[in-house]
Amino acid sequence: MKNYLKLTLLALFATAFAFTSCDKDDETTTAPAEPTLYERLGGAEMVDDPANQGQMIEAGRLALRGVVDSSIFVIAGDTALQPYFGTLLGEVGSGDLSGFSALSKNLTDFFAAAAGSENFTYSGLNMVDAHDPSKNSRMAMAADDAAFDAFIADVVVGANQNNVPDDILGEVGALIESLRGDVVQK
Ligand code: HEM
Repeated sequence: MKNYLKLTLLALFATAFAFTSCDKDDETTTAPAEPTLYERLGGAEMVDDPANQGQMIEAGRLALRGVVDSSIFVIAGDTALQPYFGTLLGEVGSGDLSGFSALSKNLTDFFAAAAGSENFTYSGLNMVDAHDPSKNSRMAMAADDAAFDAFIADVVVGANQNNVPDDILGEVGALIESLRGDVVQK
């Protein structure tokens, strides 16, 4: 009888404990949110901006800006894409970097926002208008699928110049691919 009482008490205690731990589990085992692409690129942590002495920049933005600027240079040297960028290339050729800076900022904002940044928003033209020559005179002609493929290949080269890990590059590629229908208008 004494043993039976002990067992019952033990069982009650175990049950109570199980319930308590269940409650505790409910509070503490909520799966942490998956880090965004932007966070995996360094996120909002402030680091020195190597391009602007004395200034700080978010690590995620720095990573994306590096890929964007490298890619613009690769695209500028790509004979398949040069015809689309006549205005920009003409400016750069005559030493005017204003269009390049604006494009670098817009593209970096675009990818930062798309990657999940909380501090940057894109305020340029939407992707359809940006690539419609009748809405954006800087777009010399409508892009076809071959041009879009060349664009992706050039971004891959630009990303590799910045040592972007393959899994992250895969996600950036998927993001770009998801916009093919907006960009290709021929
Ligand atoms: C998903 C892929 C692409 C993205 C995310 C993208 C994004 C952008 C953005 C954000 C702008 C700036 C818009 C503005 O100034 O308001 C832009 C401009 C432009 N894009 Fe794209 N683009 C893509 C693909 C392409 C392709 C495939 C081509 C050509 C074949 C192209 C050619 C251009 C040109 C010529 C401009 C104007 C550049 C300038 O400022 O002179 N883009 N694009």
